[in-house]
Parts: sequence; structure tokens; C-alpha cells
Amino acid sequence: MAAETAPRATGRIERARQIEARKLARRSFLRVSAFAGLTLFTGSLLASFLGFFNLRRPTGFGGTVTVTADRIPRPGADPVRIPEGKFWLVNLNGPEGDVLQVGGTGGLLALYWKCPHLGCTVPWNPAFNGAQVNFPGIIGWFRCPCHGSTYSKAGVRVYGPAPRSMDTMRLTVNADGSVNVNTGQITSGSSENPLREVPYA
Ligand code: FES
Repeated sequence: MAAETAPRATGRIERARQIEARKLARRSFLRVSAFAGLTLFTGSLLASFLGFFNLRRPTGFGGTVTVTADRIPRPGADPVRIPEGKFWLVNLNGPEGDVLQVGGTGGLLALYWKCPHLGCTVPWNPAFNGAQVNFPGIIGWFRCPCHGSTYSKAGVRVYGPAPRSMDTMRLTVNADGSVNVNTGQITSGSSENPLREVPYA
């Protein structure tokens, strides 16, 4: 009799152990799931925060836009429109564009295309004759379609209701001939825009 009782007791103990082990496994699974969920939630919160405050080093407008060498105009050529950065890239040939003669010696300028008057996008008009704004002999101007503000190739205002010249963006030249334009670093335009030209060999 005693010999039959002993295996039954051992079986009960073994079953109890298995039940306890299953409970422990379930508890640790729940703990790991909760931790993973919390990590995901925190990650998505952080991503939203960075996106909202624009801290992820944006590369379009608002951040740095790189223009490869093949897109950079030759000295004296028409300005090139850079839509991803909302600016015109201009390569001035010597004193070109320095219509008020402040001492421009040529080079690159990134001109923000937003008109300083009421914000219209300013196009380059390669056929516009400066004679219409008292600068005869100069063909090709930035001319705002909204109220006629007119700017030289260096963005210098010569005519119209705009309160100042076109604004410029910080531009640096890279070793491979490309340029970086920081579209988040904008300086108010002035008649001295030509003094901001960056030499480009
Ligand atoms: S918005 Fe350009 S002149 Fe008025």
C-alpha cells in the first residue's frame, strides 16, 4: 500500500511543478511584450518630436541642398532654378549684376526666389530690357509678375514696391565642385548682394 502511495505523490508534485513553470513562462512573456510595446511607443513619440521640430537635418527647403557641379551655371550664363531649395543659383561674371556698383567681383549667389514684397515667386526673365527700368543696355532681369519689382542678376532691387533686394542663402563650395546651400540660413537682401558672391573656379 505504502509502495503505491509514493508514485502518486511524486506525480502530483511533478504536475504542480509543471503548472508553476508554465505560469512563470507566461509572466515573463507578458513582461517582454510590455517592454517591447513601450519601446516602440517611445520611439514613435521621439520620431514625431524630431519631425515636428525639424531636427532631422532636412535636405530639402529648410535644410542644406547640395547642387552638383553639372548643374552650376557657367559665369555669365542664365541663372539656374533649384526647385528643391526654392532658390536661383547665379554665377556672376565679374561685376555683372552689380548695377549700383558696390564692388562685386563675380562668383556664385543663391537667391531666395520669394519676392520680399508680398511673397510671389520671382522668375528670371532673360529677355527683359533694362531700358524699361532706367538701366539701358542690360538684358535679363529678375522681374516679379505680381507688382513688377525688378532685380538685377545679383538680386539687387532697382524698381517696384519691394522694400529690399532679393534675400540670399548661405552657400559653400565643396572640394568636388558641388555647392551646399543652407536654405535655412537666409540673409535679407540689400544693394550689397554682390559683396556676398562666393568665388567659384
Ligand atoms: S510680390 Fe513681388 S512685387 Fe509684389
